[in-house]
Amino acid sequence: MIKPYKLSNNNFLSSLDISTDEIIKILKLAENFKNKELNINFKDKVLGLIFDKSSTRTRVSFQVAMSRLGGTTIDLNPTTSQIGRGEPIKDTARVLSRYCDVMAIRTFDHSDLEEYAKWSTKPVINALTDLEHPCQALADFLTIKEEFIDFKNVVLTFVGDGNNVANSLILCGALLGVEVRIACPKGYEPNPFVINKANEIYKNKNLLKITNDIYNAVSGANVLYTDVWSSMGEEKQKEEKDEVFNRFTIDSDLVAQADKDAIILHCLPAYRSKEITDEVIEGKNSRIFDQAENRLYAQQALLSCLLS
Ligand code: CP
Ligand code: NVA
Repeated sequence: MIKPYKLSNNNFLSSLDISTDEIIKILKLAENFKNKELNINFKDKVLGLIFDKSSTRTRVSFQVAMSRLGGTTIDLNPTTSQIGRGEPIKDTARVLSRYCDVMAIRTFDHSDLEEYAKWSTKPVINALTDLEHPCQALADFLTIKEEFIDFKNVVLTFVGDGNNVANSLILCGALLGVEVRIACPKGYEPNPFVINKANEIYKNKNLLKITNDIYNAVSGANVLYTDVWSSMGEEKQKEEKDEVFNRFTIDSDLVAQADKDAIILHCLPAYRSKEITDEVIEGKNSRIFDQAENRLYAQQALLSCLLS
């Protein structure tokens, strides 16, 4: 059993904010929380939530995680707090630092999250930006670990838009030495900085593959992962993206190209019959609901370290 420990970084804004060793320990800690082997009491500690975009899983799993750790949560709705009025981030961050012990923030521009963290004297967690979704990646690799025990020889193929979820999967995958393949339409490749960073971490072992050839990317893979074609904030591009991503659906024919024991992941919420079929979500290889559950344990582990 492992106890919560202080991370080298005060914030968790990116998958890059933790080392390989720290990810491995967080995953172990998450397993301990899942098996109810740990009883931590953060009485009087308060987690503040600022969500500029909708959320079901992230919001609720953070609230339940904090409650299980003995602390409480304040959900700051931007429309009823002064945040929606446009109070400067640097003012909000300094004030909330005096009330809350840790913050989880979901917003559009990653630079707004960085600005918040710059002024906050308390740890700040990325609860999703347009660039990254690192809490999701922790739960994803916890789910993969539960299935395959370790990450040796695991091939993870992400089919879809190379944005936030894909970027964090790439970085976390690189830190864990997992081969990551991204199959996306031309023009929807992951962030170039993320690609360079991952290749650096992989020490140029060619373990990150980005392609438009979906069948090639899926061939023999152990994990197939997808996300919505149009993310929050992209509502106006929906029609155009539906057209561009038309071939990028995880259906039974595509699953048949992967390893026979491959598991299927989706961060949710899903558009059934767009990026994934109903049959695949409900199929025997789907671990999508375990993955959603694992958000809770991964975040319990993360919070317990950031509050230590
Ligand atoms: N996967 C995820 O972050 O879901 P929510 O948008 O419901 O939080
Ligand atoms: N890429 C999606 C993820 C939702 C959890 C979005 O940003 O809307």
